[in-house]
Amino acid sequence: MVKVLVTARSFALCDEAKALLESQGYLITWNPVGRPLKEAELLELIPGMDALITGTDEVTEKVIAAGMPTLKVIGKYGVGYDNINVAAAKEHGIQVTYTPGVLTKSVAELAMGLLMAVTRNIAAMDQLVRQGKWERITGTELSGKTLGIVGTGNIGREVVKRAAAFDMNIIAFDVWPNPDFAAQYGIKYVSLEELFKKADFISLHAPSTPETVGMIHAKSLQSMKNTAVLINTARGDLIVEKDLIKALQEGVIAGAGLDTFAVEPLLDERFFSLKNVVLTPHAGSNTRETVARMSIMVATDVVAVLGGNLPHYPVR
Ligand SMILES: NC(=O)c1ccc[n+]([C@@H]2O[C@H](COP(=O)([O-])OP(=O)(O)OC[C@H]3O[C@@H](n4cnc5c(N)ncnc54)[C@H](O)[C@@H]3O)[C@@H](O)[C@H]2O)c1
Repeated sequence: MVKVLVTARSFALCDEAKALLESQGYLITWNPVGRPLKEAELLELIPGMDALITGTDEVTEKVIAAGMPTLKVIGKYGVGYDNINVAAAKEHGIQVTYTPGVLTKSVAELAMGLLMAVTRNIAAMDQLVRQGKWERITGTELSGKTLGIVGTGNIGREVVKRAAAFDMNIIAFDVWPNPDFAAQYGIKYVSLEELFKKADFISLHAPSTPETVGMIHAKSLQSMKNTAVLINTARGDLIVEKDLIKALQEGVIAGAGLDTFAVEPLLDERFFSLKNVVLTPHAGSNTRETVARMSIMVATDVVAVLGGNLPHYPVR
């Protein structure tokens, strides 16, 4: 019997995708821990599986080797496949697939939501009202401010569109600038150093790569305005978290809205005592609409590969 391990937790919310796998007669094993799996946990579950549908679990070289000789396809439920050792998968002839394009708007909306939550102190005031305190915390207006976008790919561009509707000025940095899009939205591409210096708010939308890991560190934080707010819905390892915590504690920057962390689930309790931070549990793509689209996409490609066909969305 064909066996599929599904560790991406919200996949189970989509009946249509579940039915697609079940209609093939696959035996499905669901995530037993209710959070992304560590390497050791995957090592126990992966032997004998034909397919893995993964979120942000640690799909290391060891895990992939332990899945041999049965494992044929790893379906990434999402676009950031930095948690999968793609090179090791290729070496073993395992197809990796992903779900580009369908989560873009949801992540962009959360980025804007975090920006508003931090600049208007929404979470903090909610807590005060619940404690019976009718206290207002004076916020900062977005209109007329400069937003710095790092990475004008799919998600970064959707954030630009939303920020333009808020009458913001937009500057951006990307290793592959998009001049047509920049002209359409009046974006100015600048160096990363200039972006850090000039932006009132900074939103990260670059992938985790050797070039981007640790791109936000003590020195870059020092170069930002002390009123700056940093939003990260990309990947936690883009930021040296201990440097960010220190910067937030000392008022080097004003605040942060964070959806992704170097270690997930987030364990670093120093974040919890920071009043100028809004934290979400890697929920950027977690909307009903995106969950449905991603689940069907990943299931369709897993079925294709297990049936000896080419996937629609291969990671190359
Ligand atoms: N929070 C979430 O739930 C969530 C969901 C989906 C994606 N993500 C993250 O968002 C990232 C972006 O997603 P996307 O769909 O927009 O990807 P994308 O590939 O469309 O865009 C990435 C952009 O980053 C640029 N880039 C690459 N290296 C760079 C560098 N060194 N400096 C600046 N820019 C660089 C690329 O040129 C590209 O324009 C993903 O890689 C993923 O890590 C998070």
